[in-house]
Parts: sequence; C-alpha cells; structure tokens
Amino acid sequence: MPSAKLVLDAAFTIAPVPRRLFGSFVEHMGRCVYTGIYEPGHPTADDQGLRRDVMELTKEIGPTVVRYPGGNFVSNYRWEDGTGPKNQRPTRLDLAWHSIETNQFGLHEFDDWAKKVDTEVMMAVNLGTRGLQEACDLLEYTNHEGGTYWSDRRIANGAKDPFNYKLWCLGNEMDGPWQVGHKTPEEYGRLAAETGKAMRLIDSEIELVACGSSNSRMPTFGQWESTVLELTYDTVDYISLHAYYEETDNDPLTFLASAVNMDNFIEDVISTADAVRARGRHKKRINLSFDEWNVWYINQFSGDGPKPNTVEWKPQPRLIEDEYSVTDAVVVGTFMNSLLRHGDRVTVACQAQLVNVIGLLRSEEGGAAWKQTIAYPFEQMRRLATGQIVQVVASGDKFDSPTYTDVPVVDATATYDEETGRAALFVANRSLEESSVLEVDLRGLGATAVREASTLHAGSNQDRHTTNLEDHSAVAPRPFTDHVLDSGRLKASLPPLSWTVFEFDCLRG
Ligand code: AHR
Repeated sequence: MPSAKLVLDAAFTIAPVPRRLFGSFVEHMGRCVYTGIYEPGHPTADDQGLRRDVMELTKEIGPTVVRYPGGNFVSNYRWEDGTGPKNQRPTRLDLAWHSIETNQFGLHEFDDWAKKVDTEVMMAVNLGTRGLQEACDLLEYTNHEGGTYWSDRRIANGAKDPFNYKLWCLGNEMDGPWQVGHKTPEEYGRLAAETGKAMRLIDSEIELVACGSSNSRMPTFGQWESTVLELTYDTVDYISLHAYYEETDNDPLTFLASAVNMDNFIEDVISTADAVRARGRHKKRINLSFDEWNVWYINQFSGDGPKPNTVEWKPQPRLIEDEYSVTDAVVVGTFMNSLLRHGDRVTVACQAQLVNVIGLLRSEEGGAAWKQTIAYPFEQMRRLATGQIVQVVASGDKFDSPTYTDVPVVDATATYDEETGRAALFVANRSLEESSVLEVDLRGLGATAVREASTLHAGSNQDRHTTNLEDHSAVAPRPFTDHVLDSGRLKASLPPLSWTVFEFDCLRG
C-alpha cells in the first residue's frame, strides 16, 4: 500500500492565498452563453433572460473572477455589437467557432450577470481583427465616469455607474496559428505595449495581462514569452498561460500525473519572466495569469470529432461538451494544487469554461442544470483555502508513467488562516487501485480537531469513468471518516483514486 508523510508548519508559508486564483471563464462559444447562462424563456429565467438555476450553481461554486468574452471568439469580436437595444443588434459570423452570433447577450448583460453572481469581471480586448483604438473605446465605455462619447453611450444604454473593470487581457492566444489575426511575437509585443500604454492613460489603475503561449508544446514557447515581455515589461502586470490535458492512448497514469507538466510550465514561465527582468534591470516582477486550464478531450474535437469549419453555420452549436468523470475530478484537484502551490506568482487563474463548454456546470435547453464532477474540487478549494499557503514538506511513494518519472502518489497542498484559526488540507491519491496511507504532522499549525473531512472517489456500483450526466449527484464529495487526529498528528487511509479535503481547528497565535 503506498504511503506519504507530510509536515505542515505555520512558520513556513509561501504567500497569501490569491483570491483571484479561483476564476472561471465565459466565452461566446458553443452553449456557454446561449442556453448556458442566458436563456430567455427558460422556466428559471429572470426578467433579463439569465438562468437562475445556473446562477445559483455558479454562486455555490463561487468563482472569484470570470474572464469574458473569449477566448478565440474575442479575436473577431466587435464589442459594440453587444450593446444598445437588442432589436438593433447585428447578427454576425463568428469565425473562431464557425457559429452565428446574434449579439442578444453582450456587455451589459454580462455585467448584470457578474453582479448577480457576485464575481469580478476579467475583460479581454480584440487584438486580432482590431487594435488600440477599439480597446481604448471599450475601456472608456466601461470605466469612464461620463461626459464623453463612449461613457455617455454606456449611460444611454442604462448603466449610469461605470463598470470599473480592473483586470484586462490584451488579446487571446496571439501565438496560435488558429487565432484570427495571429501575430509574431514582435508584432504582438509592439501592439500590446502600445495598446496597454494608451489604456493606462484612460485608467491608470487597470492591471494588464499580456498573452503568453497557448500551451507549453507550442514551437515558440519560451521565445514568445521572452520577446513579448522584452517589448511590454513596463506596461503589463501579468503574462498568461493556457493548458488543457486529457487521457490518451489508454494511459491513465500519464493523465493522473498531468499536474507535473503544469508545475513545470509554471516554473518555466516564471524563469523566463525573471530572466527578462534581470536583463532589463527592472524592479517589478511579472506575475502569472493561468487564465485557461482544464481537462479537455481535445483529440475527440480536433481528431475524429466535428471541427468547427465542418459544421453548418448556426447559433450556439454543441461544442466540446465534455462529460467529466471521477478520474477527471481527481486530476482537476491536482491542477488546483499546482496553482495553489505556486500562488506566490500565479495570482490569477481561470478554469475554462463555466458551463457546457468543457464546463464546471452543464445545462440543457429548457431543462435542468447540474454540477459536473470537476466542480467539486474547485468549489472546495475556493471555499476553504484562506489565509496563507503553507509549504508542504512531503515524502512518500512515487510512480513512473510512460511520460513522467518519480511522480508522488499522494499530491497535497495546505493553507492556514491565522484570523479564523482554521487550516485546510487538499489531497489527491493518484493510485488507481490502492488506498494510500497518509500521515500528517500538524503540530506546527496547532491543529486540535477535524472540523470537516470529505472525499470524492468512485463509490460502490461506480467506476472511475462515472459522470454526473444521468444521475446528476452520482459523483460528489461524501463525508470521510477513515482518519484519526491525535496530538496534532493525522493518520488517514485515502481511498484509491480520490480527492480528499480536510478542514482543521487550530490553536491561534
Ligand atoms: O476554451 C476553449 C478555447 O481554448 C479558447 O477559446 C481558446 O482561447 C483556447 O484555445
């Protein structure tokens, strides 16, 4: 039976938990917006056509920030199309997803939705088919008080108060040849620097994200970040990372170890950003915005599955509606761990996407909405990770997969909140077949009691492929009792292929 030993001590912390680490993403893609968050005529729709059932589930999951409106979509989007009277909004071709965009949902609708679910907006500007002027127009529209052309149009469209968005993406995946308006790093870096400079003249308090690589397998990875940051260092605050993982070739071990790749990706981007800092003798550090991450069965999409340009032009086509399993939930837990353990530099992260499109949630037109398996690790960490990220000193059994070596069977992160006197521990057992014995020395946190413990794994009559498609509550965290805390030492038996979460009461001070 595999085992792991951890030591946690409040004296050894990494950074405060960045609240924006628990972000998600709403793109005009497939059924994320239309029949996802917006469906006039749905039995639960409010007077603006926003689905109350999806809003309730969103509030439970609690994303702290939501990126909008894309994604690849943003690179051919005219933001003005989604403003003003709905019967005057144009219908357009969306080239990114080969879809019809009716523009019945736009900026004001999204702002209303974000306020209702109590989340921050992370806005993206189009640097594919558009540029500096349109980005400035949008910022003037959203953030300027009034008395100018664009701010007065916002007021005329019903929003007296500015939206005041602080966090802005300068384009999306501009390194990708699939991107409408794809650019070289030099072209993009200059455009991003000049656009960011002008945007800061409108609002000096905004935070700007430059596009990094679309994934670490891109042939330009590393060189792209280096060139872009050389050109934008003084203007931007973050460089972005995107990554999607899937189980391929019947190789669950490599899939279960995917967070190793995520850790390496993050550390490589930190090194690259810091090398640019050193070369330029800059004082500030560039932080990381991991603003797209998830499990995505992309081979089913770009392999034998339907490709956007082979489907007919229609509104809200079903695109990449992956159904997530127990295994996916455990892997997503390890992604959350990867982000949290790098929370000193990864200070923004957005799971992609919120609903239907590789979604935390699923919804059916005119029908039900429910949580996918992967929503649970997200929701738990967002709720319980507060205060400081604690360094985890770990030893234990490791495994090799066809791609990765020396992968810890048990993957863990922890937080400690001095103000509330609570600590949290997030643990994945990557062993497919075996329980793992976990021993944690929590004396340095002053842990006195387990307040809450739950585990997500395949229950009886289930296997690791079980999803929530048929029975919407088939896979969820269940109370976990197979543990004992004695004199600040925890001993637990983690079920095979599981995601387990503990919350502790601690002595304060
Ligand atoms: O999230 C789906 C797509 O993945 C996004 O539009 C794009 O940015 C990425 O390639």
